[in-house]
Amino acid sequence: MLSQATRDIVKSTVPVLEQHGTEITTVFYAHMFEQHPELLNIFNKTNQKLGRQQNALAQTVLAAAKHIDHLEAIVPNVNQIAHKHRALEIKPEHYPIVGENLIYAIKKVLGEAATPEIINAWTEAYGVIADVFIQMEAEMYKEAEWEGFKPFKVVRVKDESEHIKSFTVQPADGKSLKPVVAGQYITVKVHPEGDDNDMLRHYSICSTDTSKGIEFAVKRDVAGEEKGVVSNYLHDNIKEGDEILLSAPAGEFVVADTDKPLAFISGGVGMTPVMAMLHEQAAKGKDIKFIHSAYDRNQVPFKDEIAGFHNQDNVQFYFNYSESAGRLTKEKLSEILNGNEEIYMCGSVSFMEGLLATLDSMGIKREQIHFEPFGPKMSITV
Ligand code: HEM
Repeated sequence: MLSQATRDIVKSTVPVLEQHGTEITTVFYAHMFEQHPELLNIFNKTNQKLGRQQNALAQTVLAAAKHIDHLEAIVPNVNQIAHKHRALEIKPEHYPIVGENLIYAIKKVLGEAATPEIINAWTEAYGVIADVFIQMEAEMYKEAEWEGFKPFKVVRVKDESEHIKSFTVQPADGKSLKPVVAGQYITVKVHPEGDDNDMLRHYSICSTDTSKGIEFAVKRDVAGEEKGVVSNYLHDNIKEGDEILLSAPAGEFVVADTDKPLAFISGGVGMTPVMAMLHEQAAKGKDIKFIHSAYDRNQVPFKDEIAGFHNQDNVQFYFNYSESAGRLTKEKLSEILNGNEEIYMCGSVSFMEGLLATLDSMGIKREQIHFEPFGPKMSITV
């Protein structure tokens, strides 16, 4: 239990951290990887180069500092991060490494302003925050379908659209699989030839049905300077008959029980988890609006599966092609949605931010909106 004095110091340092948050975490990562280069086998180097993880950590530390009197307020965010940590095999012994390097960075960036009182208060507070993660992750390790990264055989590779492939994999040990909860993801570990480190990536699972194996979808990332090393590696190198390593399904982006109608909104490869949700919920007879935005028709994945819903009256599809029709605007969404739906959406961070602003302007309550961006969720929610 933190003393009142410690909590006061932590809260009073929030403005300083807000000013220097990204700088502190940049120093933190550089120092941590120098001291512990083995951690480069866990962290996403592309995220590091683009500064994504720096921001995610900085924002989480700030959120924790703001809520230090009632840490339970950040539990929903911790839950989502803890799922990712468990999928990446982050263990209790990793936490002191992060703590020591974070404190080192605070001292380095704040200089004399980082008094012993501030450093002691943050050391204590970090310990309490780390315990919240460690305890939540311990439960998730107990519930995981298998331990660590396990070999799987690739039994099918299918082109789903111009840049999206689905991979179906079965356990190499021949063991059977539990059905997947719609909306979850698996984590792949690969080591492309010529690279120094292992690389881990999360990919959404396409279907709850595992009778033929786990099916996940990968979009070949072709945009920008840092084009996706792992997505390109999987597209170009992994063929039927190959083996890859997977950790057990994880994630809390799942459909809650409700009497209300449902709306699924996706952008690009964000269709993957909502396609799994569509199968799960349509089978229960739910009323569903399925809205998808893609650059053009060639980019729409899972066309065979969509065709399979042709005669189902409870499911209605809407496609928006941004090349010809522009973005999903308030006008377009107002024609489709009644406003009483529970909405589940998935896509890029910018797609999510745009949609959240549009849905806000339509008066749709945040409690009705559930979403998972590709990338740190807290960059949107905090
Ligand atoms: C991801 C926070 C401890 C390794 C994340 C994310 C956040 C976060 C906010 C982004 C989640 C998302 O993508 O939605 C924290 C906090 C920690 C902590 C507040 C301490 C209290 C650790 C530790 C390790 C670790 C001890 C391992 C040494 C990772 C990795 C990712 C991640 C590898 C995936 C993102 C990437 O590779 O760039 N963490 N984390 N974290 N965390 Fe942590």
